[in-house]
Amino acid sequence: MKHVVLTGFMAVGKTAVGRRLAKRLGYDFVDTDQLIEQQSGMTIAQMFEGLGEAEFRERERRTIAELAPAKPTVIATGGGTFVDEANRRRLKHLGVVVCLVTSLETILDRVARNDARPLAQGDARRRLTELYELRKPAYGKADVLVETEGLTVDQAASRVFTMIAPYLKGNATEAPGS
Ligand code: S3P
Repeated sequence: MKHVVLTGFMAVGKTAVGRRLAKRLGYDFVDTDQLIEQQSGMTIAQMFEGLGEAEFRERERRTIAELAPAKPTVIATGGGTFVDEANRRRLKHLGVVVCLVTSLETILDRVARNDARPLAQGDARRRLTELYELRKPAYGKADVLVETEGLTVDQAASRVFTMIAPYLKGNATEAPGS
């Protein structure tokens, strides 16, 4: 069974597009950041603050290692998840990995309106520009890159749907009426 994994930099729309895509495919949806938060009983911001980033990464790795959905699922991951080699191996094993790509300007614009991201605190422009460049090679290892700049959530989900169709042959078909 092939799942669909969404990766890409923070604020590219992995969760919103993933939910829409899951509905369209008739798949379940899971967001690994939400799983980590549920399992830890705290938000990611609290984890970074109280336990540190290394502990968050440890929990992230554990969550990814244990991830084994029983039904076809769209899996939205955190922006740093796919950068880790063990996570990358596991996620590739789970299915087709799609990287959503949006310009850094759009990302900076979005994170400025939401202060829940610990890595975007302080001088966000400088920090995120560095991270963006650093992570590009890892994102490039996704099976499919999908440019979503300027697209609505619906349009982005449609574009992903079209691009991954060949990878999902043999899985459940599109949900009726979606
Ligand atoms: C992170 C991105 C966040 C979250 C955590 C770390 C990152 O997820 O996993 O704050 O390293 O880029 P989003 O990509 O959903 O913001």
